Amino acid sequence: MAVSSEDFRAALTRFASGVTVVTSADSEGRPHGITVSAFCSVSLEPPLVLICIEKLAGSHASLAESGRFTVNLLSSGQQWISERFASLEPDKFRDVPTATGVSGLPLIAGSLALLECEIRQAVDAGDHSVFIGEVMAASADGGDPLVYFLGDYRSLA
Ligand SMILES: Cc1cc2nc3c(=O)[nH]c(=O)nc-3n(C[C@H](O)[C@H](O)[C@H](O)COP(=O)(O)O)c2cc1C
Repeated sequence: MAVSSEDFRAALTRFASGVTVVTSADSEGRPHGITVSAFCSVSLEPPLVLICIEKLAGSHASLAESGRFTVNLLSSGQQWISERFASLEPDKFRDVPTATGVSGLPLIAGSLALLECEIRQAVDAGDHSVFIGEVMAASADGGDPLVYFLGDYRSLA
């Protein structure tokens, strides 16, 4: 018994999620960023999170190469940043305020929370890879999250 891709997608769009931007760097040190909603906490001890990245995404190779990534949990005013990092623009970081984390990777200023991770495991999963990262640094700020539901951006209000 196989589910149709229509039914599968329709069911998944009913899952409300936050929106993150995952940053990494390729072997030449060039920064990459990708909008990701498939983010999840995994373990408290050790502190682990996971992200699911499409194998065809440009960021997939740079994640595998760099062995580390950051997760920037976007706030309600950062829809334009989500759209930018989901686009095909060559310079996704243009005008995006960033700081450099302890990992050396870019962190997006104004995010609700920031996590800096070292990849502990990469799991092959269909057309995606699941990257499990150990959180080496984390910080949190105030504000409302950017929410994604039924294929559109929402706010909690
Ligand atoms: C709200 C939203 C959530 C997304 N979540 C994911 C995700 O979890 N994993 C993924 O691989 N792509 C996800 N995407 C698609 C990527 O952001 C998009 O394919 C991007 O252009 C890939 O960039 P890259 O090829 O430069 O890495 C999402 C897009 C949007 C708008």
